[in-house]
Amino acid sequence: MIARIAVLASGGGSNLQALVDYLTSRGGERTADVVLVASDRPGARALERAERAGLQAAVLRSARSPDGCDPLELFRQQRVDFVALAGFLRLVPKEILSEYPSRVLNVHPALLPSFAGPGMYGERVHRAVLESGARVSGATVHLVDDEYDRGRILAQWPVPVLATDTPETLAARVLRVEHRLLPLTIEALLGARDVRASADPLAFVLRPAAAPGVDDVAILIPPARGLGS
Ligand code: GRF
Repeated sequence: MIARIAVLASGGGSNLQALVDYLTSRGGERTADVVLVASDRPGARALERAERAGLQAAVLRSARSPDGCDPLELFRQQRVDFVALAGFLRLVPKEILSEYPSRVLNVHPALLPSFAGPGMYGERVHRAVLESGARVSGATVHLVDDEYDRGRILAQWPVPVLATDTPETLAARVLRVEHRLLPLTIEALLGARDVRASADPLAFVLRPAAAPGVDDVAILIPPARGLGS
């Protein structure tokens, strides 16, 4: 079965694009299709990307967009069975979390549980990492619950922090990894194949011999030579 994914995005949508491109590249082997992109921001570039890719694009109802759509109604109309947050800056409404248990995930541009929580997004995350003196940052994909950045961690991919880094250079290095980690984690979560068999030379999965389901997704760790690529 090919899962039907809704992507929620507030900004540029490069993670959305990476996900769509990855699924397209998998052709008949793909485990999912993005069927809907929704944003809380009417002008979000993610919506333009969605339209260009021929996907349904919708603005969500908010104080700023009172005529916007109700996300749960949209998801039902489109028979969505999985939700990915890609740069979405709002909390996910509770009714969505209860209709999609363990089926809403988010990509965060740091190694959770550090550098997380309300207000910790975009450049602020990378600035905080640099100010902390951390030598490693990275990307995390996690399940979403009713607090920012707190749900169960599914996958992480570390990248080095360089002495010469600015928030912008660190953000760019982490974003490259996000673009790979999000699709690979979705694929692993949907269970179509073992990511170890991936043609991707930088990623492998430590997969516990556990019952199928969410517990099957383990931490993605690139081999040392892959760091920073
Ligand atoms: C990414 O770093 C994502 O992790 C964060 O916001 C950024 C969004 O990038 N939540 P994009 O909109 O996918 O280009």
